[in-house]
Amino acid sequence: MNNILRNPWQMANIFCWLPLAGILVDVLFNNLGGNPIQTLHIRLGDWSLRFLWITLAITPIQTISGWRGMADYRQLFGLCSFGYASLHVLVYLWVDNAWVWPIIINDILESTYIWFGVGCYLILLVLAISSPKIAKKKLGKNWKKIHRLIYTAAIFSIIHYFWQLKGNLAEPLFYSLMLGLFFLFRILVWIKNKQLMYLMIPKSRS
Ligand code: HEM
Repeated sequence: MNNILRNPWQMANIFCWLPLAGILVDVLFNNLGGNPIQTLHIRLGDWSLRFLWITLAITPIQTISGWRGMADYRQLFGLCSFGYASLHVLVYLWVDNAWVWPIIINDILESTYIWFGVGCYLILLVLAISSPKIAKKKLGKNWKKIHRLIYTAAIFSIIHYFWQLKGNLAEPLFYSLMLGLFFLFRILVWIKNKQLMYLMIPKSRS
């Protein structure tokens, strides 16, 4: 046990599984309240979003702290977000709609907020498929471009969240603020890189 606590990688793995364990315990003990399907939707969707935000936070933390070797954690948390999103979608298709495609297609066509959920999920799928080291090698320079789509996924997920919201605004507002800070960070890094490039260009002597 002590060994596990001293190993940040194992701790991160346990952290990823804990919310799912909590959800499974509540399913087993019939502890999901009056509307269990909705509760499942909400809890899986919330955790997918939280892990997506944790993934987005890794680059700023790495840049500010100078702590190298966080890329593996970014991949772990990103895959974790994809995993919770897959379960969220599975609950929608299976538990909610029993794989009845005409109902599902009709519901998707009628509910604009689901379009953004689908958009976000498709991006997470592409990112998950292209996340192994071998895919990174094969994709070369394009890998970075593809993985910047994580910001589009984040915007889609927050729209999906706001659009179907029935109650408390505080949580999605907090996530939006965090997303704004992540964007600000990227802009600052971009400006800094531009300035460095400018300084590196040899000046012609007058
Ligand atoms: C095919 C894709 C998706 C479908 C069909 C879908 C479906 C749904 C549905 C039906 C709800 C409403 C639950 C309710 O209140 O009854 C919901 C809520 C939610 N979904 Fe999705 N979703 C999808 C993708 C995603 C993805 C990729 C994320 C996260 C990255 C996500 C995050 C959320 C969140 C955070 C909520 C709100 C939970 C809350 O109210 O606290 N969804 N989704």
